[in-house]
Amino acid sequence: MKSKRLMSMVVFVYFCLISMNCLASGNHGNQPAKKMGILLVAFGSSEASAQVSFENIDKKVKAAYPDIPVRWAYTSSIIRDKLAKQGKNLDSPEVALSKMLDEKFTHVAVQSLHTICGAEYHDLRRTVGAFKLLKGFQRIILGYPAMSTQKDMERIVAAIIETIPKERREKDAVVLMGHGTHHPSNVFYAALMFQLQLRDPNVFVGTVEGYPGIDFIKETLLKKKIKKVFLMPFMSVAGDHAKNDMAGNEEDSWKSILTKAGIQCVPILKGTAEYDSFADIWVDHIRGPLSHFK
Ligand code: CO
Repeated sequence: MKSKRLMSMVVFVYFCLISMNCLASGNHGNQPAKKMGILLVAFGSSEASAQVSFENIDKKVKAAYPDIPVRWAYTSSIIRDKLAKQGKNLDSPEVALSKMLDEKFTHVAVQSLHTICGAEYHDLRRTVGAFKLLKGFQRIILGYPAMSTQKDMERIVAAIIETIPKERREKDAVVLMGHGTHHPSNVFYAALMFQLQLRDPNVFVGTVEGYPGIDFIKETLLKKKIKKVFLMPFMSVAGDHAKNDMAGNEEDSWKSILTKAGIQCVPILKGTAEYDSFADIWVDHIRGPLSHFK
């Protein structure tokens, strides 16, 4: 009798332990064991000069999270098509995530390598949302782009100040070229300029496709009687915009417009992701999604 009771207690405890284990691991029924992955998503670039930025991020992410496989996707179909013609096959986020489902990843941190929470980021949010609804992954979480919170803004300001070339004198200006967008998040650029100028009144932020434009920047530089500017891309890569719209010889490039206005230009062709101080911001943002996978 006693042994029968003992036996049923053992069976009871055994099943308790099994169900506790299931709850603890989130491993119900035949769900696979946890397999974490990171998907890095950039706009993409077909310029060879841009690859150094992506390589820097890739190297840093793998060093920071050595046990987690890293995959890449480019959001721009134009760039993907161009690269495909050169025999380089890059996936869209949708294809990359489908492949990760196929590879039985259960927890995926999707990290946006964009600069602001603009249109590209919000498109990516929709894709991540669709994969959430599919319920193929146990968790899929999107990490913020570089400039999202006030804390990020402060890190960006510090990174910009740190990366200004040493030969620049106080009376010289630094003009950053942001991408700019029709998206409401375009306001980040003017907000960045305000916070930069609290530290250094001769640092300006303009954009190719939004506000502030180059005409506003030019007028402001002339009003301040600036004679020399350092032009720097405020984009992760020194790609087409940096090479042509910023530093090109065409008459509508920023270099040509400012030179014509009598301001000497020194273009710096280096994307933000080439500098560790910027790259670390994206790398650190992956910690957000990963912290929910514990
Ligand atoms: Co563009």
